[in-house]
Amino acid sequence: MREVSVDPQHDSTRAVQAAPASPAHDARYLAVRQATQALAAPLSAEDCAIQSMPDASPVKWHLAHTTWFFETFVLAPHRPGYRCFDPAYRVLFNSYYNTVGDKHPRPERGLLSRPGLEEVLAYRRHVDEAMFAMLSETPSAALPAEVASLIELGLHHEQQHQELILTDVKHLLSRHPQKPAYQKQWPLTPIRARTPRWIDIGQGLHEIGHAGPGFCFDNETPRHRVWLDAFQIASHPVTHGDFIAFINDGGYQRPELWLSAGWDAVTARGWQAPAYWTQRDSQWHAFTLHGEVPVDPNAPVCHISFFEADAFARWADARLPTEAEWEIATRDLPLSGNFLESGALHPLALRETLADGQLAQAFGDVWEWTRSDYGPYPGFRPAAGAVGEYNGKFMCGQYVLRGGSCATPASHIRASYRNFFPPDARWQFSGLRLARDA
Ligand SMILES: [Fe+2]
Repeated sequence: MREVSVDPQHDSTRAVQAAPASPAHDARYLAVRQATQALAAPLSAEDCAIQSMPDASPVKWHLAHTTWFFETFVLAPHRPGYRCFDPAYRVLFNSYYNTVGDKHPRPERGLLSRPGLEEVLAYRRHVDEAMFAMLSETPSAALPAEVASLIELGLHHEQQHQELILTDVKHLLSRHPQKPAYQKQWPLTPIRARTPRWIDIGQGLHEIGHAGPGFCFDNETPRHRVWLDAFQIASHPVTHGDFIAFINDGGYQRPELWLSAGWDAVTARGWQAPAYWTQRDSQWHAFTLHGEVPVDPNAPVCHISFFEADAFARWADARLPTEAEWEIATRDLPLSGNFLESGALHPLALRETLADGQLAQAFGDVWEWTRSDYGPYPGFRPAAGAVGEYNGKFMCGQYVLRGGSCATPASHIRASYRNFFPPDARWQFSGLRLARDA
């Protein structure tokens, strides 16, 4: 899903594990493709063309690149007689697949004044018609396993870019002096805040990684054993109010709280608060997809880097959980939460746990930084072919985040899902949950 300049991360999207053909591929294909275009509906052609920073891509590019994925990996090699919409697109909308060939430089995606938005939408229709013809002529269950897996990967890839569209649009609109809203209504309702508590998890030998017949990216495999010492994990994410206490205690001015590289980032970039925050009359305000609003002290903090999450945890006399601890603590929870479909497009205030001893808001609201480097699980093998570039080549210099966010499609997340970003990335809905040794 996402993209970063160091790794094209979401772009650095991950490769898929072989998935069985689904009898509902055509319905799912339509739903995912329509959902992407619905996200672009509130935007003008000009909104869709601008690139606000190297890490972010224009919406028009996202619309074309997700289409390029189906054309390049499904239709061109597996649909006899398929006519490419425009051969030049093979380069223009290639993100990072070196085995496909040349690619347009990522920081210059905003210079692609042509094709225009209407032509990109025509590209989407062209590919959709060919995909529907393919799916209608061949019952989904009869599709070759390789083709079915590529279609499945393409759908999950497109869902990753749906989240990127929202985070990239948020950054784009934040740079406009009038701070325009992507979505004007504010659907959030006040919720009585809950008090976090520590949850004890005993020592033991566990298994993490994907299990079962459903889809997963290759980086979630193979499932393997891990030994965990006893630990405690917070029932809720860290809130804006918690983070304001860190700021007020001089958190951004105390080098002893920071990793060396984190302190370098703080001083070089002048960080004084999470991204999108401004202070007026002693009140913190944050830019959201609904425009600028006062910071809700009871909502999970977001738009912080790994460095800030790590420094906060040190200040709080705690630490970040490892990704194995996070997965074991959440593996039995329902995959429910504040996802993209809620329409909130912002983290919601702390809510009650479903039962004593369970984590609240582990899924949705904010991606939670872990202290784990993004690396291969023991025995990891990238997917075969060009899509093997999806994940494995980005396993260096990044950290794992878990749980999905308010911009993640609900059907996209799993307890074993491994998101990853460089430690200085702040434009995703990234927050944290504390842990500590028992
Ligand atoms: Fe991508």
